[in-house]
Amino acid sequence: MEALRAEHLSKHYGAGATLVRALTDVSLRLESGAVCALLGPSGSGKSTLVKALGLVSLPDAGRIWMGGRLVVDGDAALGSLDVLRRRHLGFVFQKANLIPFLSARKNVELACEIGGVEPPRRRTDELLAYLELAHRADAMPTELSGGEQQRVAVARALANRPAILLADEPTAALDRERGRAVMELFARVAHEQGTAVLVVTHDHRTLDLFDLSYEMEDGRLKA
Ligand SMILES: Nc1ncnc2c1ncn2[C@@H]1O[C@H](COP(=O)(O)OP(=O)(O)OP(=O)(O)O)[C@@H](O)[C@H]1O
Ligand SMILES: [Mg+2]
Repeated sequence: MEALRAEHLSKHYGAGATLVRALTDVSLRLESGAVCALLGPSGSGKSTLVKALGLVSLPDAGRIWMGGRLVVDGDAALGSLDVLRRRHLGFVFQKANLIPFLSARKNVELACEIGGVEPPRRRTDELLAYLELAHRADAMPTELSGGEQQRVAVARALANRPAILLADEPTAALDRERGRAVMELFARVAHEQGTAVLVVTHDHRTLDLFDLSYEMEDGRLKA
């Protein structure tokens, strides 16, 4: 099933001498239950594409469908961006960005509350167990390893049961082994929960974990 479709996305930054064409005519599909890698050199437009698909920074032109519904037409959203993001999307970034004065459990629970997931406590327990974090639930972020922090960030991203999970270099700050464990988690989420997962990565050694990969170059997508 198609979770996300984007057609002919373009986006530029700046003007005149500082004009950067960050995206040029990018089209792609993300399928439910599949984990997809997004590769490409620095500056090729990967983060710009993820931000457009994540409704964080809209494209100048093109269309985006989520769950079969048109949500972006050109530079306009069809509906409230907050509502659309909460309904469809989860995000994981390079750094876990956990709230430092809340335990692992409270970080996840807060995301459940914000996402309107009822009851937040039960969903939090479910997520912590699923991500094998139950034994670390009461730890503070500074007491967690980088890999554990990133697993809490994945738990938080899954709070509202998003159909689409976007991750921008989620393992860049981790060593090879921990990075691979987090990548395995994305594949598991896709295959077990039916989520459509898109992961930006520079690490070709984990490509065996992905169902599909796209590569960007100069703002264009190569299959
Ligand atoms: N807010 C911005 N204002 C101006 N230019 C920007 C902005 N964000 C990105 N760019 C430019 O757009 C192009 C694409 O940037 P983007 O961050 O999407 O690349 P990337 O593929 O994610 O790179 P990296 O692998 O280094 O993260 C680059 O030339 C970048 O300098
Ligand atoms: Mg980037």
